[in-house]
Amino acid sequence: MILPVIMAGGSGSRLWPLSRDLMPKQFLTLDGDLTMLQATVMRLQGLNADAALVICNEDHRFVAAEQLRQIKQLNNNIILEPAGRNTAPAIALAAFTAIKKGQDPLLLVLAADHVIADVDVFQQAVVAAAEFANADQLVTFGIVPTAAETGYGYIKRGKRKELSSGAAYQVAQFVEKPKLETALGYLSSGDYYWNSGMFLFKASRYLAELKQHRPDIYAACEQAMLEVDPDLDFIRVNQQAFLACPSESIDYAVMEKTAAAVVVPLDARWSDVGSWSSLWDISAKNTDGNVHKGDVLSCDSSDNYVFAETGLVATVGLQNMVVVQTKDVVLVAAKDRVQDVKAIVQQLKDLG
Ligand code: GDD
Ligand code: MG
Repeated sequence: MILPVIMAGGSGSRLWPLSRDLMPKQFLTLDGDLTMLQATVMRLQGLNADAALVICNEDHRFVAAEQLRQIKQLNNNIILEPAGRNTAPAIALAAFTAIKKGQDPLLLVLAADHVIADVDVFQQAVVAAAEFANADQLVTFGIVPTAAETGYGYIKRGKRKELSSGAAYQVAQFVEKPKLETALGYLSSGDYYWNSGMFLFKASRYLAELKQHRPDIYAACEQAMLEVDPDLDFIRVNQQAFLACPSESIDYAVMEKTAAAVVVPLDARWSDVGSWSSLWDISAKNTDGNVHKGDVLSCDSSDNYVFAETGLVATVGLQNMVVVQTKDVVLVAAKDRVQDVKAIVQQLKDLG
């Protein structure tokens, strides 16, 4: 059986000031009518899978529960983290939850911050991936890269493996968030995929890999789940044990280290809505290449993303910029510098 596991505990700080601590981007409606979390759940309809397990920060339990209720996902379990420890521990909590119930499902690990336009293609890739995951491999879904993005993991294609439904490749190398020069080399070689940040593997297999490569994270998560009842709507882990867990992503903790990874190519018009420029990329534009949200006027302006929450925002002679106006903040950023919005968020945190 496939158990979808939706990681919804990130801070989404590159989409500040819309994405805030109280309402991070996975709970926002950025594209279409559904929130990012709801869209992630709805994308699973038609796939032969269990009700999704959602993992988020305990501060967001009511937002998450309400958003799931709105799309009639009444039976979802929600695992609450007292604080974020990144994705390697979050996935371990999901794996332990399943194992405690006496099950060993294939975990379909999904980020709550993706847009996938071709849902059928995505679901076919999951079905193909199950063939490998059932054979104890860790499957990642690879996207053909279109730019030297430094915010993604890169997967070097190894030996080809035939599938009834297409092809997959052994992972020759997995490099999380390389430097720009390295990413440029990967892009021109044609041998690399982007890591989509979605995975499929047996719960037991993930835990075995984690135990081998990061026994500290494994032990902390095992401890955090010791006296937890997995049959409640909110699954609360042991706070003290989980807070003692090191913070690390699955990419660094397991995927860069494992010898058992396989990549299934995914051509489903996938997009990570990580930053204002990626949101501009996927949004409908006017003839000048501008994306306007809310009350916006422009003159001789092109290729901008302009968002007005209250009142009117006007631009004159502006190119390749991001302007986001909310009730209490105005962000003005060069579109090619939006990765650094998180530096502003950090400055704000330092100021207290
Ligand atoms: N529960 C929980 N707890 N979820 C978390 C936590 C946490 O501490 N930290 C992050 N998440 C969630 C985020 O909400 C998001 O849905 C997902 O996990 C991935 O985290 P990101 O922080 O968005 O990761 P990333 O975008 O920098 O990198 C990952 O995704 C890229 C593709 O989008 C990596 O897997 C890269 O290799 C990949 O290319
Ligand atoms: Mg992301």
